Amino acid sequence: MQIQPLHGNFGARITDVTLSGVMNANTLASLRRAIDDYSLLCFPDQDMNDEKQLGFTHLLGEPEAEHVRFGSTGEISYFGTVGNVKDDGNLQDGVNARYQSGNQLWHSDSSFRETPSFVSILHAYEVPPTGGETEFVSMRSGYRRLSRDQKQHIASLHVIHDYVFSRSTVAPVNPNHAASLPPVMHPLVRVNPENGLKNFYIGSHARSVVGMSGTQSRELLDMLLEHTTEPEQILRHSWEPGQTVIWDNRCLLHRGTGYDASRWRRRMRQTRVVGEEKGVIHQMPA
Ligand SMILES: [Fe+2]
Repeated sequence: MQIQPLHGNFGARITDVTLSGVMNANTLASLRRAIDDYSLLCFPDQDMNDEKQLGFTHLLGEPEAEHVRFGSTGEISYFGTVGNVKDDGNLQDGVNARYQSGNQLWHSDSSFRETPSFVSILHAYEVPPTGGETEFVSMRSGYRRLSRDQKQHIASLHVIHDYVFSRSTVAPVNPNHAASLPPVMHPLVRVNPENGLKNFYIGSHARSVVGMSGTQSRELLDMLLEHTTEPEQILRHSWEPGQTVIWDNRCLLHRGTGYDASRWRRRMRQTRVVGEEKGVIHQMPA
């Protein structure tokens, strides 16, 4: 496995490894360590299909059921399609395209779930020639750059993450889907269990800080987000067909950049691995 760092804070391009098929224990251990160390791993030229991707996902843990389909219909699927191409190969209609524009807010996948995801795995099949990048920032690096007082201030706080809240400005959420995702509470500061490194855990699903007024909550969450997403902290990833990217949702935020969806096709398939830290279902005050 050849590892080439991509940014001063996080990210690596990894070559000389095949993600699909049998992987020996040493390679898998190196891969897990690279996730803990670099948070974002980019693997060019992977021979992938859904079956291979799901097999690889299982190597890293339990696949996460895709919540939109599960919450709306009860059907379990482990794949999400990212982009503007439907399963039948045709372009999506305007409603869905608008729905996906919610991904242009900084977020951590599944932070709104009782058990948020560990990693997302995204494989690119079709990408536009311009636009459609994914931007990443590290909340671990953001935490490290806080002052000692700021770290103390946030040390024992908890945050409510709420999918319906974050989606409400983008598109209406199906009532069954909304009911399947009640607000959950997670610690603001998380610790990587392998290397002990800390990060705060925020993003567009972060609705409020427990015990703070709405204004205080917003000020703190906005301050942390601004601090994390300063331009020089952003890793802007340009996709190429055949790339597989793994990112650590425990400590990264990401967002999609725009592209001309009426002109270009973008098709990617995503799986996620369930995390190990469980939050608490939270009843919002009436
Ligand atoms: Fe996402």
